[in-house]
Amino acid sequence: MPSSIDLSGRTALVTGGAQGLGEGMARALAAAGASVVIADLRDDQGAAVAAAIGGHFVHLDVTNELSWQAAIAVAVETGGLDIVVNNAGIEISSLILDLEPDDVRRMLEVNVLGTALGIKHAFRAMRPEGPAGQGGVVINVASVAATIAFPAIAGYSATKSAVDRLTRVAAMESGKLGLGVRVNCIYPGLVPTEMGAGLANDMAELGLYPSPTDAVAAVVELTPSGRLGTIEDMADAVVFLASDHAKFVNGVGLPVDGGMGM
Ligand code: NAI
Repeated sequence: MPSSIDLSGRTALVTGGAQGLGEGMARALAAAGASVVIADLRDDQGAAVAAAIGGHFVHLDVTNELSWQAAIAVAVETGGLDIVVNNAGIEISSLILDLEPDDVRRMLEVNVLGTALGIKHAFRAMRPEGPAGQGGVVINVASVAATIAFPAIAGYSATKSAVDRLTRVAAMESGKLGLGVRVNCIYPGLVPTEMGAGLANDMAELGLYPSPTDAVAAVVELTPSGRLGTIEDMADAVVFLASDHAKFVNGVGLPVDGGMGM
């Protein structure tokens, strides 16, 4: 994808970049000229995407501090760390009536702890002033589920609201400590990735809609733009937030949902 935004000279690390939204974000950041490190649990897939975009792959479990240290070191070795996209996440659907504590714990670990550790290690590793005289950028991936209620995703929604709050506090601390790192998050609407398609299936299986197609239709009905989101929609927003075009955009949650969450 040709890009009018120039991120050349910058290094970006994208968690969960082996597939889905993270892969699209990694591809778009690379197309804009950034050197991209894909960090994911899925080694073969992640390495294949990295090879396709001329980037690097590093194994990362976002819930593990040592794993973060190793991943950040790889990014720093490529020339310094400028952009971190905390995209890795999981969704385990359930009605509250049937909530499994271990499922909620796992979502909290990956979505909340994983994002918090990503911010921590980004703050520690980012150079105060990047190649274009601009500090680092952290972009967290929350969800429209942080802003509106949808059945069967109580635990997930709670974790994504937490990602939203983490974002604001991180932006505030960066300012107070003079770190020069902008921290923002996006709220994607439903995108038919493995996770998004899985969610539509779960809603049908839980009896909330007659079929996955009906679940998707209900989302589209709630969306003024009249369609689901695409991977490119999310990638474009991330490239914008990573760029100097967003240099005064800090501590925000940007809906990228066709208006669904308004
Ligand atoms: P996906 O399930 O297709 O991909 C998630 C990626 O994260 C996978 O490559 C997986 O290996 C990686 N991952 C999972 N746990 C990890 C861990 N502990 N450490 C490192 N990597 C890990 O999901 P998708 O749809 O691409 O979602 C990406 C992000 O966007 C997630 O945070 C998700 O919650 C969020 N999101 C997705 C929406 C959708 O409709 N697809 C809507 C709103 C938000």
